[in-house]
Amino acid sequence: MALRAVVRSVSHYVPGRRVTNDDLSALMDTSDAWITERTGIKERRFIDSEGVTTSQLGEAAARQALDRAGWAAQDVDLIVAATLSPDLYFPGIGVILQQRLGCRAIPALDIRAQCSGLVYGLSCVDGYVKSRQAKKILLVCAEVQSPVLDLTTRGRDMAVLFGDGAGALAIEACEAEEGDPLVQRGIIDSHLGSDGSGAEVLCMKLPGTARPGFIKESDIQEGLVHPKMEGKVVFKNAVGRLLETAQTLLKRNGLQPGQIDLIVPHQANLRINEMVREELKLPPERVFNNIERYGNTTAATIPICLSEAVAEGRLREGSLVLTLAFGAGFTWGGNLVRW
Ligand code: ACO
Repeated sequence: MALRAVVRSVSHYVPGRRVTNDDLSALMDTSDAWITERTGIKERRFIDSEGVTTSQLGEAAARQALDRAGWAAQDVDLIVAATLSPDLYFPGIGVILQQRLGCRAIPALDIRAQCSGLVYGLSCVDGYVKSRQAKKILLVCAEVQSPVLDLTTRGRDMAVLFGDGAGALAIEACEAEEGDPLVQRGIIDSHLGSDGSGAEVLCMKLPGTARPGFIKESDIQEGLVHPKMEGKVVFKNAVGRLLETAQTLLKRNGLQPGQIDLIVPHQANLRINEMVREELKLPPERVFNNIERYGNTTAATIPICLSEAVAEGRLREGSLVLTLAFGAGFTWGGNLVRW
């Protein structure tokens, strides 16, 4: 008998407020041409009103994932949540989701791997399943990033990239005999990595204990409460680590790139994903991108892509999927999943 972590459903939720590149151009010195050419982004979603929380977006995605799986909230025996933009400094959103969804007093785990939240999350879920610690798991990835962006010319390099959104997966431990089609399905393999020398290359310094005085008025004036990035360094590392991850997972599982039905990469920059695709010599239809409509929703990009890929019929039961992510930390990784 083999024990597999099988994805039963995926869902996503994005707020209704569309913010186009032209809308941002009215707030700062930027242009639709610069943003489109450098990143592939045309618009992103921002929360509809101040005070909408990350857990609210996560809850909307999670409720639909539960419905699609045919599960009640009471069936879930583990919540794994990933975000870099929690409702509160502490606790994380896992426990808030537990309460909001009406789950039992189950464990709720928070992952802080930024854009790699989904790939770390799937690896974690696989471990819980294979060690028989959980059977029905909700993996929720959600972000509300718009309130911390510096929407002025000072912050334009970061402000044009990010959006708000959420995705959720219902994942079930399934036991199958050899020969049963179920034995082929589920999370097959994961590869994760980190390099903390990049911690301050892409980060938001406050609130944080590294700053004496925690948060001072002058820190706010200096813009330390906004995310910062050395874009070119991140870009170069992203391409290298994404390729390394893809090649590691392919080699370890005896696969050629052409045998993957769909690559679902993190959505940080269309040029990054195109470079990875070209290096793997795959046609455009084998890589799913939607950065044009949502920008970078950090932990939520891959689940939003998976949810849309299912809705568009590009991801079906039996499809072989490769997820790939790189983000702040640096963290990176990928998962090979038979849908
Ligand atoms: N509009 C207009 N001009 C701008 C903007 C803007 N929004 N932002 C920066 N510029 C200017 C800069 O000031 C600079 O001007 P200068 O040449 O006069 O100094 C010029 O445009 C070029 O800036 P670069 O930063 O060199 O632009 P680059 O081509 O590197 O593109 C980008 C920037 C899009 C951020 C790219 O570096 C990138 O995508 N990096 C990787 C992002 C990523 O992968 N992030 C990881 C995930 S995020 C996470 O984990 C939270």
